[in-house]
Amino acid sequence: MAMANQQQHQPCHGITEQAQVVVVMVPFPAQGHLNQLLQLSRLVLSYNIRVHYVGATTHNRQAKQRVHGWDPDAAASIHFHDIEIPPFHCPPPNPNAKIKFPSHLQPAFNASSHLTEPVSMLVRALSGKARKIVVIHDSLMGSVIQEARLLPNVESYIFHSVSAFNVSSHAWEQQGKNIIEDSELFPQDIPSLEGCFTADFADFFARQSNYQKFNTGCVYNTCKLVEGAYMDLLEKETAEEGIKHWALGPFNPVTIPERSEKKRFCLDWLDKHARNSVIYVSFGTTTTLDDEQIKELAIGLRESKQKFIWALRDADKGDVFSGEERSAELPEGYEDSVDGIGLVVRNWAPQLEILAHPATGGFMSHCGWNSCMESITMGVPIAAWPMHSDQPRNTVLITKILKIGVVVKEWELRDEIVTSKIVESAVKRLMASTEGDEMRRRAAEMGESVRGSVAEGGVSRMEMESFVAHITS
Ligand SMILES: *[C@@H]1O[C@H](CO)[C@@H](O)[C@H](O)[C@H]1NC(C)=O
Ligand SMILES: *[C@@H]1O[C@H](CO)[C@@H](O)[C@H](O)[C@H]1NC(C)=O
Repeated sequence: MAMANQQQHQPCHGITEQAQVVVVMVPFPAQGHLNQLLQLSRLVLSYNIRVHYVGATTHNRQAKQRVHGWDPDAAASIHFHDIEIPPFHCPPPNPNAKIKFPSHLQPAFNASSHLTEPVSMLVRALSGKARKIVVIHDSLMGSVIQEARLLPNVESYIFHSVSAFNVSSHAWEQQGKNIIEDSELFPQDIPSLEGCFTADFADFFARQSNYQKFNTGCVYNTCKLVEGAYMDLLEKETAEEGIKHWALGPFNPVTIPERSEKKRFCLDWLDKHARNSVIYVSFGTTTTLDDEQIKELAIGLRESKQKFIWALRDADKGDVFSGEERSAELPEGYEDSVDGIGLVVRNWAPQLEILAHPATGGFMSHCGWNSCMESITMGVPIAAWPMHSDQPRNTVLITKILKIGVVVKEWELRDEIVTSKIVESAVKRLMASTEGDEMRRRAAEMGESVRGSVAEGGVSRMEMESFVAHITS
């Protein structure tokens, strides 16, 4: 089957034209980012191109351990470069912080500067052996590759871990919101950036962005069938500088392999439920809810009378292998009271598999871009509850533009608690209304075409082929 082809290609050995070009991935050390570049590594590797993946030892280990749907340690796969960096401060998240951005990760983000020297050394060593080195780095790792990119046979490409909608909205705002004739691309009431980041992170972001102008091109985990209009905008905007943009997504696998023992529990539970009857609830790896909010959510889910799987955990720490996590308190007797209706999962949930399961009919999500793409791929509509960063804007894309979701929390009300009543009505609206069914139908259609886009002749497959042709030329 053509669709699975992309995932099953094994790199062949021996000297091919493409073997003279090697790719070096430089991910940013947070789960959504690590995962996306690891998934892209798999795709690049299927074109018989060598891939080196560079990161701190603990972050490489995290990326490999949590990957879904394939085994990154499989023979002849990616070359991981585990870099030992000095220990960094690893505080737990603060559930009561006013701004939900995971400020406790800042020391880990800052510590990525220790990769600058090792990355330069690696790229220099490779550049003596290969015809061309292609560095694909997270947009937040610009400073780390600043030396490496100066070598004569090195080309660098930015990976934008966010939606093309978000990236192009930035340009649109900077140019006074009037470059576009078709104003339907951006609603006038697009959410403000207030409350999206901490000041410390905004500075970090600005420092990394200083290096963007040295790039040859940009790659995105998106599909033209979803964000074609925004990709066109980005293309138009940088045409003069000759910067190219490729929508290579979805990076995640579009078909799910046999379920493993480890993941059985959730999936066996889903097997018992009717098609589209379960809402999956998860806020990703950078969200920590306070006790009161957890309680309201718990009650709202129960009162909605819909089936649910709730992945309840705190945000990751900078080093996910360091020490215990807080176990959030649920109301007394809660889990018994939802027996057979709701399943609370406290450890790592197999999200992609859950979304792909026929019983899953909705996803209550923070709208991190990784989660959005996984949900879109699997054809599942979203109940959007943005927490920080690009999530408020992704919410607009999902609900207003693609019309495959409802809003749980409006960004203007970000400082307020989401009551159980609000949760209940949002869940019912998505899971048990004709409006929700309409969204589910649209999401299913979109999912089908996105899955098809990675097959032979599909639009994402063609983008990938164009990118590969470009970097190997
Ligand atoms: C991160 O680095 C910046 C710039 O050096 C510094 O101002 C900031 O205090 C650091 N933050 C943390 C939490 O280490
Ligand atoms: C998303 O877009 C906003 C506004 O255009 C921009 O400031 C922000 O940095 C972008 N977010 C990310 C994570 O790139």
